[in-house]
Amino acid sequence: MAYVVKQKINGKEYFYLRKSVRKGNKVTSQHIAYLGSNKEEADKKYAEIIKNMDSNNQEIKMEDKSNIKMENNLIQKKISIDELAKFCKEKGFVFRSSDIYGGYSGFWDYGPLGVELFNNIKRDWWNFFVNKRDNMVGMEASIISHPKTWKASGHIANFNDVAVVCKKCKTATKIDKSEVGKVNCKCGGEFDIRGEFSLMFKTKVGALDSSDTYLRGETAQGMFLDFKLISQTSRMQLPFGIAQIGRCFRNEIAPRDFLFRSREFNIAEFEFFLNPEEKLCNDLEENHLGIKLKLLDAETQTAGKEDLKETTIGQMLSEKRMEEWQAYWLAEQIKWYHSLNLFEIKIREHTKDELSHYSSATFDIDYEYPFGNVELGGNANRGQFDLTQHSKESGENMEVFDEKYKNKIIPRVIEPTFGVERVFLAILTKAYSDDGRGNIVLNLPARIAPVKAAVFPLVKRGDFEKIADDIVKDLREEFNIAYDRSGSIGRRYARNDEIGTPFCITIDDDSLKNKDVTIRDRNSRVQKRVKIEKLKEILRDLISEKLNFQEI
Ligand code: GAP
Repeated sequence: MAYVVKQKINGKEYFYLRKSVRKGNKVTSQHIAYLGSNKEEADKKYAEIIKNMDSNNQEIKMEDKSNIKMENNLIQKKISIDELAKFCKEKGFVFRSSDIYGGYSGFWDYGPLGVELFNNIKRDWWNFFVNKRDNMVGMEASIISHPKTWKASGHIANFNDVAVVCKKCKTATKIDKSEVGKVNCKCGGEFDIRGEFSLMFKTKVGALDSSDTYLRGETAQGMFLDFKLISQTSRMQLPFGIAQIGRCFRNEIAPRDFLFRSREFNIAEFEFFLNPEEKLCNDLEENHLGIKLKLLDAETQTAGKEDLKETTIGQMLSEKRMEEWQAYWLAEQIKWYHSLNLFEIKIREHTKDELSHYSSATFDIDYEYPFGNVELGGNANRGQFDLTQHSKESGENMEVFDEKYKNKIIPRVIEPTFGVERVFLAILTKAYSDDGRGNIVLNLPARIAPVKAAVFPLVKRGDFEKIADDIVKDLREEFNIAYDRSGSIGRRYARNDEIGTPFCITIDDDSLKNKDVTIRDRNSRVQKRVKIEKLKEILRDLISEKLNFQEI
């Protein structure tokens, strides 16, 4: 009997035709065909295959094998944050800033592989949240802005943490103002409160009549300051968003956990501007409402507990934890994390007394890092706070005319935010795997992998290298390609597996005769032969996930 199975691999669905086979007195099943990645395509292929099969085989049954792991031998490996930092240094992903001087606490440098991975994450984010939407535009603001910015935004008055030292284990750390007197150190010791400190980095601008200002503590203010200019010059109508990715600076009391709490880091965020009367979100679809998540709600925390509830975005909406636009953007954030294999997320609702000065509802998106469940990103309802404040401080009228409602208003704002370093860490933690034989493999999604393919001439010989040179030259027009001529093939595969290169291309004896090469899939170690003239197109489709390796 042949039947179709649906498998979920890294969040995507794939369809296969399987057949039951009797071996002695045992019945097992085996894949007999790959049917594609969408249901319609799978049905068509199935019909074609079945036409050519004998009539006894024509029974079809749908079996949902959701969450069957990728057909590979990879086993996700637990790694501590210190081991990850060591790995990142050894492989050229991330170094301590000013390493030769012993490092500088809270500052980091990205090495050759790190900068590629980091840029790919930022590009993927930009593609998902900006380029694919017609209600979003981008910007890049200066890091230093007029000092009044930070007075109006409330950062000078409110952007403070409380420095504490544990009386028992002597660890210095920070707590939120709302936590004073309510929390103890992880070791159980009481905190000695050392006072409130501003997170803003003060700096001086100018030589003679210098003035004091700050390095930005968040990118958001750039979008508020330029909101009116952007709405006029890009003819955007409400509702629309302005996105930015950029460096931020916070004078953290206790930088720690590798990149997790740095003093210089990158935020990717957008401000989505809405008419205060715009309550319904037409973009909110079933696929958003049905997203399942684990929630630590405000009332549970207020009762001093930490129990998680299994819920959905739809359920959170019906409990009025947030309004529709906030729900829509929270769902889109979760979808992006899922596309990067980051499924280990939990949502934590802020309690009333911990809300930032600008927010009426905030949700942290926490990730299961090696050192605990902590904040990966967030989603805040900033209301009209920032535009109203800047309007007051600057004297500039920040109202815009909304064609739809025919009124002049200061928009309200939903703000999804992402710490890029924290996404980078989560991705590496998740990808760190063992191939089942004790070798490290970084199971990175191909579209963000630092190196997309490595090209190996099997032997160091002119005719092999000529083909390899041409392939590398051609592929480098589009992709970051490694050209590795030395060491055994096994060693070359291992070197690339370790840094997450998804595909390795080998030029062997047959390549000389047949103008083809082998392409090897990192996760399954399966190799296929492909014509050189088709290689670039195949690689492009594999990276963009239009093509599954098994389809080649
Ligand atoms: N505009 C909103 C905002 O700045 P935030 O929660 O203060 O919100 C945004 O910061 C994100 O930046 C956080 O969700 C977190 O991922 C990241 N982040 C915050 N402080 C950080 C630090 N010291 N080092 C690295 N990432 C940090």
